Amino acid sequence: MNEPTEKDGGEVRLRWYRATGRDELREGRVTTAECGHRTICLTHHEGQYGALDNRCPHRGGPLGEGTIKDGRLRCPWHGWEFHPLHGRSPDASKEGLETFEVELRDDGVYVGVPEED
Ligand code: FES
Repeated sequence: MNEPTEKDGGEVRLRWYRATGRDELREGRVTTAECGHRTICLTHHEGQYGALDNRCPHRGGPLGEGTIKDGRLRCPWHGWEFHPLHGRSPDASKEGLETFEVELRDDGVYVGVPEED
């Protein structure tokens, strides 16, 4: 797991990591994946996968240990909520989450992480 592959992502050069197997993360579930220098909150919601920054903008809670309920990803620490795929907060005054590209490949779910400078 987590073998990097390279792909030119346009202006930003991405490094791709296998975050999980195709059938390992069930619908409606959340997990944490180490993808190079970033820790990712990987979600499976309505048939799609989302890759979000694992660090909650409130106080740094581990979103990959959160839950998806009623269409929202809930932080396990104090309950801030985010969209499980695009990371936006339902409260426009609150910060959303950084998102990463996801590719479903034959051997798993891959996440594209910008290379470090
Ligand atoms: S750290 Fe996530 S809600 Fe407080």
